[in-house]
Amino acid sequence: MLVLGIESTCDETSAAVVRDGREILSNVVASQVELHRSYGGVVPELACRRHVNALFPVIDRALEEANVTLSQIDRIAVAQGPGLIGALFIGLNGAKALSLSAGIPLVGVNHIEAHLYAAMMSHPQEICYPCLGVVLSGGHTALVKIHSIGNYELIGQTHDDAIGEAFDKVAKILELPYPGGPQIEQLAQKGSASYYPLKMGQIKGRPYDFSFSGIKTGVLYTVKGQNFKRDHTPLNEQERCHLAASFQERAFMDVIKKIGLCVKEENFQSLLFGGGVTCNRHLRSLVKTHLPEVTAIWPELQLTLDNAAMIAGLGYHRIPVPRDSLKAMARMAICA
Ligand code: KG4
Ligand code: ZN
Repeated sequence: MLVLGIESTCDETSAAVVRDGREILSNVVASQVELHRSYGGVVPELACRRHVNALFPVIDRALEEANVTLSQIDRIAVAQGPGLIGALFIGLNGAKALSLSAGIPLVGVNHIEAHLYAAMMSHPQEICYPCLGVVLSGGHTALVKIHSIGNYELIGQTHDDAIGEAFDKVAKILELPYPGGPQIEQLAQKGSASYYPLKMGQIKGRPYDFSFSGIKTGVLYTVKGQNFKRDHTPLNEQERCHLAASFQERAFMDVIKKIGLCVKEENFQSLLFGGGVTCNRHLRSLVKTHLPEVTAIWPELQLTLDNAAMIAGLGYHRIPVPRDSLKAMARMAICA
């Protein structure tokens, strides 16, 4: 079965053709990073305008690179949420229009679930169910018990910023360009992770939940001085590296500690990672060092950031629904 996937939840317009939920024939991603960089983050109105212009050319390219025509497509899968509502409308309405005009069945897919599916798609044979899904993206941070594809139980989530959002905000404090994650990773390579004693927030009585806003404030005070004292000496280049390394280490070790608790409690054998933050190489090496008892399954690098291949892949496992019943959802849970 050939599935055409469409993704437009945030600042990437993407289309892909995937065979039988696994074999990627094409995965075209038109990134808007350059457009939003001068604003230090995604501007929803600009993102929408760019999606409108990019959507059909990106779909055409995905079909062309896969060497198929629309008439050969068996199903269209579109990211229905969560995401920026205007951006979602553009992808969803484009998908509905194509589905109607070409008579192709349509399915809606949850973007966060698709991030986890990206790892399943990369390494299906290694997964031992139930396993622990770890979502680390720009908009979400969650620990999910995965019984099977489509059957999930939420274990923990963030109460404020998502981890990727914290990376982006810390990067902004350090005057690094958007998106901040890769910039922090790079700066951290030249710093000492133990230099600044930053603290991670904890949620009382909720050992699996996250809070990233406190550490972000810790970084802000380190840069600007407690209560923004006027005589505060600016950080030198080496101190900026130490701060990036200290923040990155604390944030990742907090995630790893909580994964460790879940693994012990539920005896998970496999960990499934998903979301843009999982392309961080330091995270991958920390997981290897601190969680040697479990098999960590990572998405291939081309599937870590937002892309339509993961949408098409997951769409293969869905049952088509009437077009009119598909609604864009800015918030959309993966657990019933
Ligand atoms: O999954 P994603 O593409 O979008 C959402 O669904 O939110 O994730 C984007 C996030 C951004 O916050 C970006 O800063 C972060 O992933 N990111 C990273 C790295 N590369 C991207 N965070 C840490 N280290 C990286 N190397
Ligand atoms: Zn995403």
